[in-house]
Amino acid sequence: MGDGRAVEELVVGVLGGTGAQGRGLAVRLAAAGQRVLLGSRDAERASQVAAEVAVRAAAAAGGVEVSVQGGSNADVAGAADLVIVAVPFDGHGATLAELATPLAGKVVVDCVVPMGFDELGAYVLDVEEGSVCQQAAALLPDSSVVGAFHHLSAVTLEDVSKPTLEGDVMVVGDVREATDLVQALAGRLPGMRGVYAGRLRNARQVEALTINLVSVNRRYKVHAGIRVTDV
Ligand SMILES: NC(=O)c1ccc[n+]([C@@H]2O[C@H](COP(=O)([O-])OP(=O)(O)OC[C@H]3O[C@@H](n4cnc5c(N)ncnc54)[C@H](OP(=O)(O)O)[C@@H]3O)[C@@H](O)[C@H]2O)c1
Repeated sequence: MGDGRAVEELVVGVLGGTGAQGRGLAVRLAAAGQRVLLGSRDAERASQVAAEVAVRAAAAAGGVEVSVQGGSNADVAGAADLVIVAVPFDGHGATLAELATPLAGKVVVDCVVPMGFDELGAYVLDVEEGSVCQQAAALLPDSSVVGAFHHLSAVTLEDVSKPTLEGDVMVVGDVREATDLVQALAGRLPGMRGVYAGRLRNARQVEALTINLVSVNRRYKVHAGIRVTDV
């Protein structure tokens, strides 16, 4: 962080990049010209998925050069300039605990939602540290953790037949330089803006709001996002 490079010059890594959310962010960012590294617990799976994402991104890119490669989560954490965490909540702590060294000095963007399901639908899980983002910050003391991309549906992200997305990305974090960078990254998604939404201690509400969106989706059979007005 802090080397003064513009966001479009950064290599973006995605931990858990073989899943729907990681693939969706990767395809949109790659189509916008961002170099992307997809991470997995299995490097071979990451390479296969990266090749598929690259093909879809190239089709959507309209001539922009596309670069998507795969690797182990550890290799991606080490090689990327900025890293998005897109693993399930139940693998979040263990994944990051192993990667503190390669992630040191980097902006780490967490989009993980602490969500459970029961007979009444989706509900928010308690996180000891207050939020998933704060758990990441506790595990990664030498990284700058930012929360973002919680309110984007993977289905919408992956559906590149719709060239423009609709909605805003709420960005939370404690370091202005890092939140500015992630707001700029969010702005690389077609039709989207990054909107600063508070410090990391307020990540809990941003994470939990995703669960309200899941309820909206189930009731109305949609893939809802959010728009912040008057900004
Ligand atoms: N899906 C959405 O619409 C959406 C929207 C907003 C936020 N999110 C958040 O984004 C994250 C990823 O969502 P997703 O739907 O893409 O999830 P997912 O498909 O269940 O998981 C993503 C990837 O994480 C890896 N993984 C699975 N279990 C793991 C574990 N115990 N430890 C480490 N890695 C593990 C898997 O990759 P490998 O097996 O290749 O390692 C998997 O492909 C979640 O935390 C979710 O809350 C999702």
